[in-house]
Amino acid sequence: MLSSAFAKHSLKCRALSLSALRALSTTNAVKQDNAYTHFGSKTVPKTEKEKLVGNVFSSVASKYDIMNDVMSLGIHRCWKDHFINKLDAGKRPNSAEPLHFIDVAGGSGDIAFGLLDHAEEKFHDTESTMHIVDINADMLKEGEKRAMEQNKYYNDPRVKFLVQNGEVLDQIESDSKDIYTISFGIRNFTDIEAGLAAAYRVLKPGGIFYCLEFSKIENQLMDVMYQQWARLLPVMGSIIANDYDSYQYLVESIEKFPDQETFKGMIEQAGFKSVGYESLTSGICAIHWGVKV
Ligand SMILES: C[S@@+](CC[C@H](N)C(=O)[O-])C[C@H]1O[C@@H](n2cnc3c(N)ncnc32)[C@H](O)[C@@H]1O
Repeated sequence: MLSSAFAKHSLKCRALSLSALRALSTTNAVKQDNAYTHFGSKTVPKTEKEKLVGNVFSSVASKYDIMNDVMSLGIHRCWKDHFINKLDAGKRPNSAEPLHFIDVAGGSGDIAFGLLDHAEEKFHDTESTMHIVDINADMLKEGEKRAMEQNKYYNDPRVKFLVQNGEVLDQIESDSKDIYTISFGIRNFTDIEAGLAAAYRVLKPGGIFYCLEFSKIENQLMDVMYQQWARLLPVMGSIIANDYDSYQYLVESIEKFPDQETFKGMIEQAGFKSVGYESLTSGICAIHWGVKV
């Protein structure tokens, strides 16, 4: 079902990223352990973060493509294509059962539609099902709009759009999904461990957790270039989308997200086996995976 490269096991572990540690004062670290968390560079009550993240994505929803193209110079499209091709998921012709996918934080539909297209084009799979879950109704509406515009996956009984917090997924049955994907979403979660636990719960034994997220740049020169670029992003956000603050949050949320090895350790902690990752474009982002056994 999955590419052999993906099925092979590779295991590593590590500690908190230095930049994340530097960014936190001792006081903030203590606060984070309790009722506080980070929202970009700010420390906010955990109960507030969901609303603040919601505001960001409601604000950028209608300009989501342009936002991604600006932030990544269009490279996000290549990362997403690679993510989908590497997973190589779809019901094989000799298999009796369709696959059941869930794409969390999937508002734009980019990954969900890409996965279904791949399954159909490569394996003639027109049976597998997809739950597209996002906490933000505005982002999900963008995904539905795209499905309508491309006249595919809209009103398709195989595809369901669901407003739901990925940290909970209480409308999704346990042990019901074959593939859980999340792309550029998990860094926005208030409680990433809870999101990983929910992913583990909804997957069937043998099911795959598969995540694309910004990560830590491994090449010094690239890092210097990225830091310069990141400084410009909120200004560009303000010019292109009249929205400085949302772009500032997006840059800061990338800075705060754990590096490859730390996140790998978190996935292992959640119970997944055969955990591994692949850094893309010198670690600007990374694909992480794990299998529920
Ligand atoms: C940068 S967008 C990524 C959208 C899409 N996956 C992609 O790659 O184009 C991040 C998405 O995460 C969603 N999100 C943030 N926190 C979430 C949560 N706790 N549960 C579900 N979705 C969440 C946002 O609403 C937004 O749609």
